[in-house]
Amino acid sequence: MREAKVELDDLIVPIFVDETISKPLEIRSMPGYYRIPVEGVVEEVEKCLDLGLNSFIFFGIPSYKDEIGSSAFDKNGVIQKAVRLVRKEFPDVVIVTDVCLCEYTTHGHCGIVKDGKIMNDETLPILGKIAVSHAEAGADIVAPSGMMDGMVKAIRSALDDEGFTDVAIMSYSAKYASSFYGPFREAADSGYKFGDRRSYQADIHNGDEALREVELDLKEGADIVMVKPALAYLDIVRRVKETFRVPTCAYNVSGEYSMVKASAIQGWLDEKDIVYEILTSIKRAGADLIITYHAKDFARWMKEGFDW
Ligand code: PBG
Repeated sequence: MREAKVELDDLIVPIFVDETISKPLEIRSMPGYYRIPVEGVVEEVEKCLDLGLNSFIFFGIPSYKDEIGSSAFDKNGVIQKAVRLVRKEFPDVVIVTDVCLCEYTTHGHCGIVKDGKIMNDETLPILGKIAVSHAEAGADIVAPSGMMDGMVKAIRSALDDEGFTDVAIMSYSAKYASSFYGPFREAADSGYKFGDRRSYQADIHNGDEALREVELDLKEGADIVMVKPALAYLDIVRRVKETFRVPTCAYNVSGEYSMVKASAIQGWLDEKDIVYEILTSIKRAGADLIITYHAKDFARWMKEGFDW
């Protein structure tokens, strides 16, 4: 009689690919989670496939950064290389790529910066170029995460112009200016050098604003919409799902992972039970897909026969 049950097919595994390392590097603020060198991605994907997980979202840590984030659309950039390797080895896995500038720019913001301001419209063509370069490498879905206005439309037309009409867009539509991203910024080396992200990410006090963002993205051609973070925003997940009835993804973000890990390490919470309850709650709220750093642990526990 269970209404919502998490299946492994619902889960998307985040993979941090680092061009500057030669062996996996544990992320200090995310115990048990690693950056993987480019040469290590095939093995990492293979491990996940053995556990029954077959969708991945890739984040890159590039070897160089500049003002406009050119390493993000470099044909030989970290993501492009990693995606080509995985695509060649595993034609059927689902490859999602994060399309953003913050990991690739010296200032760490998600758009081009001029005089201390984010230049929304000047960023759009660059996002189009990044998406096309990911599609060329073999991505099935591109996921713009920078919350620039018009990014979905710009990416859709760039992809279509280059013949990638069947590459889908999963937009980080309702992405809040949240403190739960702290550990990610260490994981992906994407912290900003000045200001914050509040001029482009959504205000935590607002719910209707998220619905308007989702509506715009759908009009611009988004195939899947995302709510992020997940746990403190389950009301938004539910409202988005009920209002639009479209494929909805929730991102169980780095800070949510680290809180669970920290208390599990202390012995204050039972990790398996807590993760099971969290993922089930996200699904029950209405998410069709969940990006989560717990994916591998969860899949392993399921394989070992865990049941509630
Ligand atoms: C890049 C991006 C971020 C996350 C995913 N893509 C960081 C940010 O906006 O600061 C956060 C994911 C997480 O915390 O797990 N724009």
